[in-house]
Amino acid sequence: MTMSGHRLLSGKVVSATHNQGKLREMRELLAPYGVELVSAGELGLPEPVEDGTMFSENAAIKAVAATQASGLPALSDDSGVCIDALDGAPGLFSANWAGPGKDFAPAIARVQIELAKRGALKPEQRRAHFVSALVIAWPDGHQELFEGRVFGTITEQARGASGFGYDPIFQPDGHDRTFGEMGSEEKHGSDWSHPAGALSHRARAFQALAAACLRKPA
Ligand code: IMP
Repeated sequence: MTMSGHRLLSGKVVSATHNQGKLREMRELLAPYGVELVSAGELGLPEPVEDGTMFSENAAIKAVAATQASGLPALSDDSGVCIDALDGAPGLFSANWAGPGKDFAPAIARVQIELAKRGALKPEQRRAHFVSALVIAWPDGHQELFEGRVFGTITEQARGASGFGYDPIFQPDGHDRTFGEMGSEEKHGSDWSHPAGALSHRARAFQALAAACLRKPA
């Protein structure tokens, strides 16, 4: 992967994601920068097989497939939640735990069952982090990678209906509410365009992307 070029992203960019929750957050995070995000789903692009062994590899697979199929720069977020007591699971398989119906109630139930089986009931035994690996790929083959993480605990009860995926059971450090109880603005962070102001893994990755490749229109 080449990290040399410093390219400004503007105009139309394809989002390689087919996940509506992620797409909404990516659109929110790009809104101030004059970038129009069209989704791979809207363009009818196929979903490539994600057979990488790291978030960054899967993000690159999706971004390269989307830029090649569309001829536009493509942005891909590969993400997931890694739970210490489960040896990092569900990790790369965070989406798979929800099954083909993409229903996160059973995925959340499975997390709770697996933690209970290991006797992980106290908050300090329920440490976890979200990861977001963001890759931009251009049609000429250039790629850039930005990563963000947020650390916290898996709560005993699911709380809140905001966000998506595992948000109702993830309470970031320093907060007493889960991502599911936070609105988007709070989940991204009060001023996510500065390193200290970004909260979610995705906002942290976008903060690095913005610093390298985005400018607010004058
Ligand atoms: P991907 O589309 O293969 O990257 O799957 C990412 C999966 O990780 C999603 O389907 C969610 O289950 C989970 N995930 C990633 N980011 C978040 C988040 O911000 N909140 C809750 N769940 C997330």
